[in-house]
Amino acid sequence: LDAMEAVEVEVKACRKCELWRGRKNAVPGEGNLDATVMFIGEAPGYREDVKGQPFVGAAGKLLDEMLSRVGFSRDEVYITNVVKCRPPENRDPLPSEIETCTPYLDRQIRIIEPKFIVTLGKHAASYILPKAGFETGSITEIHGRVYEANLLGFKVFIIPMYHPAAALYNAKYKDELNRDFQLLRLEFERRR
Ligand code: URA
Ligand code: SF4
Repeated sequence: LDAMEAVEVEVKACRKCELWRGRKNAVPGEGNLDATVMFIGEAPGYREDVKGQPFVGAAGKLLDEMLSRVGFSRDEVYITNVVKCRPPENRDPLPSEIETCTPYLDRQIRIIEPKFIVTLGKHAASYILPKAGFETGSITEIHGRVYEANLLGFKVFIIPMYHPAAALYNAKYKDELNRDFQLLRLEFERRR
């Protein structure tokens, strides 16, 4: 069992917070273990819970579209969430659930050691940025900035973005998200 497989096995059997009760499947995350870019969303939604995979519903379709527009394929990146089980009615994850679940995310970050971390939505940003020593503001203010950070002992560029689910219903957010993906691509080319 490699280190990521160990995380997956533990997540699938995990009952450390109450979210296990409502799940069909835990969603550990998936993608390339050598990924340069790691995406962190909020929590599984309905489709993700059914399939056990991250971002496979409507927001996932938009994410795929944004990735391919700037020349990334889904299997060259790694995609996961702050919490690994679906909150009832897709409510926000509770602070206690985030605290209980994020040791898994931290292990995944250490395993991947990405050069870029893209946080999708406010929950991922407000978990990751303070961990790297930054204050988090509203997503409207912080999205599209590049935070050069030291996280868990290695150097990483953190780029907060809007959540694709928000962009589904708001054309302005969708434009911003497209712009931020272009920025990600530029930074990726510039720093390779
Ligand atoms: N929204 C998220 O934050 N994560 C998913 O995996 C799907 C939708
Ligand atoms: Fe465990 Fe995280 Fe699922 Fe809670 S959300 S049961 S901590 S894997």
